[in-house]
Amino acid sequence: MSLMRLAYASEATFEAKPVEKGVEPNVARILMESRRNNAKGEIVGGLYYGDNRFFQYLEGEEDAVRNLYDRIARDSRHRNVTTLLEEPLEARTFTNWSMKYVPLSSDVNRFLDKHNMDEFKPSEFNRSQCEEMVRLIRDSSQDGRVISHDVKRKDRSRQSAIPKGIGIGLVVAAVGVVGAMIYASTML
Ligand SMILES: Cc1cc2nc3c(=O)[nH]c(=O)nc-3n(C[C@H](O)[C@H](O)[C@H](O)COP(=O)(O)O)c2cc1C
Repeated sequence: MSLMRLAYASEATFEAKPVEKGVEPNVARILMESRRNNAKGEIVGGLYYGDNRFFQYLEGEEDAVRNLYDRIARDSRHRNVTTLLEEPLEARTFTNWSMKYVPLSSDVNRFLDKHNMDEFKPSEFNRSQCEEMVRLIRDSSQDGRVISHDVKRKDRSRQSAIPKGIGIGLVVAAVGVVGAMIYASTML
């Protein structure tokens, strides 16, 4: 089986809900779906959403990427889906990410300034701007809301070694012992 990489630009059809912190709710839902499906299909990549437009980069087995792209292109949450990159790939470069999400960041603002763009319009990116955008997503450390296979693993390992029920039992027992000691001391 052969690997491929694909990038596209599109315009969101939903009206962006203002959010003070975190991810726009429609985008958050897309990220949840991506996490669920991409991990299963061993697809990796990144998503950037800005000025109500998307830039998404996907890597994986050719069949899996093409099937996903067909599905994504039919999604009514965006329109004018324009393929920017579509080619074979030797080895994955987003190894640990089912869908890395980069929130509006100073990196992207610098990128726009550098190319004299006053808004994020990925459909007009040339090849080298696309590659730069892919690198930017890959290297971004602004990953407050990233979806990572590794993060999921770490989250699981961070869970307490003591099951919740046993923890509550221990607290109740400790309270009982202290109560008994207080009671015993009043008997002396
Ligand atoms: C901009 C955009 C990016 C998306 N990216 C992905 C993706 O990487 N993986 C994915 O499974 N679905 C993605 N989706 C959602 C798909 O279009 C589709 O709704 C979803 O895969 C259906 O999943 P389900 O059959 O599990 O409900 C994206 C949608 C949009 C609008």
